[in-house]
Amino acid sequence: MIYILGRQPAIGLAELESLYDASSLRPVGDYAAVVERDTEVNFGRIGGAIKVGKVLATIDSTDLNVIKKQLESIITTHLTSLPEGKFKLGISCYGLNASPARINALGLGLKKAIKASGRSVRLIPNPETALNSAQVLNNKLTSELGCELLLIRDGVNTIVAQTTAVQDIDAYTLRDRGRPKRDARVGMLPPKLAQTIVNIAAANTPPDYGAEVFDPFCGTGVILQEAALMGYDITGSDLEQRMVDYTDANLLWLLTLKENRVTPLSPDKRYYRLEVGDATTHKWANPGGIVASEVYLGRPFTSVPDNEILQKTINDCDTILKKFLANLHDQIQPGTRLCLAVPSWFVANKINHLRTLDQLPHLGYNRISFVHSNDKDLVYHREGQIVGRELLVLTRK
Ligand SMILES: C[S@@+](CC[C@H](N)C(=O)[O-])C[C@H]1O[C@@H](n2cnc3c(N)ncnc32)[C@H](O)[C@@H]1O
Repeated sequence: MIYILGRQPAIGLAELESLYDASSLRPVGDYAAVVERDTEVNFGRIGGAIKVGKVLATIDSTDLNVIKKQLESIITTHLTSLPEGKFKLGISCYGLNASPARINALGLGLKKAIKASGRSVRLIPNPETALNSAQVLNNKLTSELGCELLLIRDGVNTIVAQTTAVQDIDAYTLRDRGRPKRDARVGMLPPKLAQTIVNIAAANTPPDYGAEVFDPFCGTGVILQEAALMGYDITGSDLEQRMVDYTDANLLWLLTLKENRVTPLSPDKRYYRLEVGDATTHKWANPGGIVASEVYLGRPFTSVPDNEILQKTINDCDTILKKFLANLHDQIQPGTRLCLAVPSWFVANKINHLRTLDQLPHLGYNRISFVHSNDKDLVYHREGQIVGRELLVLTRK
């Protein structure tokens, strides 16, 4: 299978490397990754990839004219395995030197070849070089009578794949904006990023063995929500009672969703455990085996702070992270894996990292690096934002 990566490919690769292993993963350009594995992780739980497809062929050229000729035979052979009826075709290109106009022309050529083979087809026009998730979903291109061809440059070759799933954007919007309790002050963790954090923390521990995801800075509960939807047991805590109440309300709301497959564990309909507690000192009832959390990010900044305020904020966040890691250390098993989103600050073309990141071995943790991503690229950040979220992956020594 081949994944098309999201806006920050290094983060998507780290997620895939956690779910599969590094040796079965091969990055393709900075936009895709091939995974050579028989079993596929449910695409709905992956936050850092926007599409997944099955590889149909590899063409030893990146020239659209050569690709077109070979595609005609690939697509007409492929059509023989589809049911009768009018069928929809879309094309998305990644890494190729192709304008939307050239891709549309390629599509018209394919349409002609398909018609000549006796099938009727509707071509989805390309406003951009790649169709977005909404265009793929609205045109039902992943259904039986649809086909989105992915043309993905792989060095001097082009991989031809057929999309099998795309991100369900409406479901993400519902799980983000539809929740009864939100709080702009603690920040809005996008559900997709929450999925990535859980996947990196859980790595190859599947949800079906009663594995538990623990978030000690749960806020409004986005990480716990996404972990529960994947099927993990969940437990969380927060310094503020109000935040614990928000998480509680949001998780109960999750049970009412049609799509939800979460089963309540107890008669009061709660399928989770929540506590109020200061993560720097609290003794948890059971801190769980997979730690996935977005820790305290400091005060939100909408404009560049003066240096004194910035240094004070970094110090405050450093103190909380360091004390939290020390407190947690004695309460979890050696080998426990953690994925923490911690703050870093983008000021004057420089990234200011927490100093605690240099003291991890001393605190009893090993930092995990990835084969296919550099640590420095694992910072979730949007242009113009001051505070980024750095993904810190650790194991307890
Ligand atoms: C960045 S927010 C997490 C937001 C969360 N991911 C969500 O889905 O809403 C950090 C949370 O840490 C909590 N917090 C701050 N200091 C804490 C501490 N010492 N112990 C536990 N929680 C703390 C805040 O109340 C806040 O809810």
